[in-house]
Amino acid sequence: MTQLLTIADLKEQAQRKVPKMFFDYADSGSWTEGTYRANESDFQKIKFRQRVAVDMSNRTLATTMIGEDVSMPVAIAPTGLTGMQWADGEILAAQACEEAGVPFTLSTMSICSIEAVAAATTKPFWFQLYVMRDREFAGSLIDRAKAVGCSALVLTLDLQIMGQRHKDIRNGLSTPSGFSLQRIWQLVTRPAWCFRMARSKNKTFGNIVGHAEGVSDMGSLGAWTTEQFDPRLSWDDVAWIKERWGGKLILKGILDPEDAKLAVKTGADAIIVSNHGGRQLDGACSSIEALPEIVEAVGKDIEVHMDGGIRSGQDVLKAVALGAKGVYIGRPFLYGLGAKGKEGVALSLDIIRSEMDVTLALCGKRDIKDVDRMLLKEGTYPTSK
Ligand code: GLV
Repeated sequence: MTQLLTIADLKEQAQRKVPKMFFDYADSGSWTEGTYRANESDFQKIKFRQRVAVDMSNRTLATTMIGEDVSMPVAIAPTGLTGMQWADGEILAAQACEEAGVPFTLSTMSICSIEAVAAATTKPFWFQLYVMRDREFAGSLIDRAKAVGCSALVLTLDLQIMGQRHKDIRNGLSTPSGFSLQRIWQLVTRPAWCFRMARSKNKTFGNIVGHAEGVSDMGSLGAWTTEQFDPRLSWDDVAWIKERWGGKLILKGILDPEDAKLAVKTGADAIIVSNHGGRQLDGACSSIEALPEIVEAVGKDIEVHMDGGIRSGQDVLKAVALGAKGVYIGRPFLYGLGAKGKEGVALSLDIIRSEMDVTLALCGKRDIKDVDRMLLKEGTYPTSK
């Protein structure tokens, strides 16, 4: 078997082990997937400054995100259907994060419920909220996250309506389920996945099924999102959500400096510069391109995080050098999970950690907290101008 040394290796393994419709769900962007690709490729243009003959001993990647200690500035992003990459995926990923000392964010559209993840972990995790037309239901999710001791609420602002991902339509993932031959074939060719899934209690949207009307299975995802996610979500809603939650609040999906300034006014603790992994507005700029302008606009007033396109520890360092206090990984951990379950998530974090550590050293730095744009070659990175 190939040695798993990079996130790309994990992706290749995951593709062999996860039924196509769920692998594709993770590995897709909207429409032309141009923004999805740009998220990754824009990182490649940025170059480091190699520095030599500096003491490289005693290095540390430890820092904080929203005041919480993290062993490196990397959190796990909220991703829908994580428990379909590998049975009980959210529980396994949360446990791997706990062991690695990094935050885990549970999606509203997770398979394992808030309570199931809480019961299987010992440290607080973060919860991501989608706001539904039924405000009481959204409120009840906030209450449930509070009840199990989640330490941050991540409010997603860029998915009132869903960007079209062609692969999901072709795989039948956005239509009510049925046993098409295509689906059955995708499952029977992944027997180990089916075996694990058959033994798991967590097979559908754990936060929703049994709590909200009209969602019974995987296949209702697209339909339910269209019907239930509230297209009227506005900045005014942030106020009642903040009030009901009463804890640390992170606003996700900011890509424009004007929106970043509005986000600051809400009194939130952090923003995430994000285009939803290229899954929403195709044709929007990459996250790393948007980052410097937003840091310039609000970096003194609020903690700025980013996600989108991180595929290595080097990418994390580039984002930190451009002003991100922390980043989130979505696909890299999903590929690890799909490849090897909990061990694979741990491996994805280890790969990123060691790439970051060695790069930091070869750039002549020992402490992640000292990283700024001097780490990068001038003229190769996006600026606020
Ligand atoms: C949901 O968050 C998605 O991007 O599919």
